[in-house]
Amino acid sequence: MNKRFYVTTAIDYVNGQPHLGHAYEKVITDVIARARRSFGEEVFFLTGTDEHGQKVQQAAQAEGKSPQAYCDELTAKFQAMAATLNVSNDDFVRTTQSRHKAVVAAMLNKLHAQGDIYKAPYRGWYSWKEETFLTDKDRGPDGTFDPFWGEVKELVEENWYFRMSQHQSWLIEYLEANPTFVQPDYRRNEVLGFLKAEKLADLCISRPKARLSWGIPLPFDPDYVNYVWFDALTNYYSIPVALGDAGAAAPLGEHYVPGPGQTPPVPGIRLWPADLHVIGKDIIKFHAVYWPIMLKATGIPLPKQVLVHGWWQKDGAKMSKTTGNVVDPIAVVKEWGVDAFRYYVVRELDIGPDGNWTDSGFKARYTAELANGLGNLVNRSLSMLRRYRQGIVPARSDELAPDLGKAACQLFGQLKASELQAALVTIWGVVNRANQYVDQTAPFKLAKDPAQASRLDEVLYNLAETCRVLAVMLWPFLPDTAVKIFQQLALPGAPDKLAGTTWGGLPAGHQIGEPQPLFPRKD
Ligand code: ME8
Ligand code: MG
Repeated sequence: MNKRFYVTTAIDYVNGQPHLGHAYEKVITDVIARARRSFGEEVFFLTGTDEHGQKVQQAAQAEGKSPQAYCDELTAKFQAMAATLNVSNDDFVRTTQSRHKAVVAAMLNKLHAQGDIYKAPYRGWYSWKEETFLTDKDRGPDGTFDPFWGEVKELVEENWYFRMSQHQSWLIEYLEANPTFVQPDYRRNEVLGFLKAEKLADLCISRPKARLSWGIPLPFDPDYVNYVWFDALTNYYSIPVALGDAGAAAPLGEHYVPGPGQTPPVPGIRLWPADLHVIGKDIIKFHAVYWPIMLKATGIPLPKQVLVHGWWQKDGAKMSKTTGNVVDPIAVVKEWGVDAFRYYVVRELDIGPDGNWTDSGFKARYTAELANGLGNLVNRSLSMLRRYRQGIVPARSDELAPDLGKAACQLFGQLKASELQAALVTIWGVVNRANQYVDQTAPFKLAKDPAQASRLDEVLYNLAETCRVLAVMLWPFLPDTAVKIFQQLALPGAPDKLAGTTWGGLPAGHQIGEPQPLFPRKD
């Protein structure tokens, strides 16, 4: 069995409801996963929830629930959102699953046996809100900590440390030799800048059980639980091991003992190393510094790429539940449809910079690009074919073939490079070209002149075939819409392989179905 293209999202904290940022990351990752499947590649797409830690323990306590019951309820909401957004993940990891915990324990045991984990006292300033110790560098000129950190208290305790600092120069060299490991480039430069300016400290990986019980126990010291980033990052690797990827498990050797309730292995499955981790800009250090060092120290091959997206604001301000300045992805889907949501977030925000959601911008794109652009093209193309030719596809004509061939080629390159916004611009180039073609050829005029019958046949073929190719191009982005176009064309199968963009797939004599508006106008 071939190695699959293995793509992941960050795993979401369950200390609050799913929001636009979570939805965005899942949608862009879903588009990448579907695009790869559309190339004919085997894909494994993993998403999930991050369930341990202080904040979850506190949130559960505040609601008078056990942490597990609290996580169960919230994880159900994240799973429901993914389903609503048509996210095609192959598995869903929860860090409270025993299949995950068994792998974290094995990694920790191996590192401990190698002498890469040691115990030492720690005294420091601790931010409860951000769950991290702070240093003097985090103090402002007046000596205080930024309100961002919330309540900051001094804390002294013994803890376990991972020897991270010794890998600093290796990582700098690695990032320089592998310029695509962190993308976009300015994010990679940010990581390199940080690594060159600051000496990396060893990583505290534990919390005393007395202070934090909601975590994975350290296998070599029952008084401690593992603390957050080691647990969270390892999800990307634990699931391949749990699913039976023998190559993935090999570096763990005898340290790996499958947990009870272990997933049955998938015969011959090959996933690791991950091809792509999609994450937001706030967690870049964990993914581009901690994670590669953790893997290198354990003897596990590194993932191929960390792709970093920006953050959404709403109406130019940080989203916040307390001020009510939020976008509820589920409500948007209910009102406008899932593909309208998917279209707006991918088209509006390139992967990298920050973005800004406005309701007026959403409506403007819906009306101009979905209803009047794509929707109108498909509806009038199919309606005219039914009105003038009883819905029977005329003989093949290749007038728009060169334009569409060029677009398909460009689209392939853009999808391969995860340039999703640019890919949509390419597809809408086709939509606009075809709408312009209707205006230029004026089939409604041709239909009135019997001498123009064969010209009308050509125009109708070009339009119907363009709709078919568009369904194939759109499938990774707007899967429901793509399927609807295929259904209206009465074509068998699904538009789920990019090879289907080859011109001429619609056979002469084929009877199409009933056109239905794809994006009803809402005035
Ligand atoms: O960080 N716009 O979880 P999380 C865009 N559990 N993306 C946003 C966003 C926004 N306004 N807000 C959050 C965690 N995100 C950890 C991850 S991974 C091993 C562990 C993104 O729920 C954020 O950047 O706080 C991150 O990639 C994801 O949502 C989950 O954030
Ligand atoms: Mg966060």
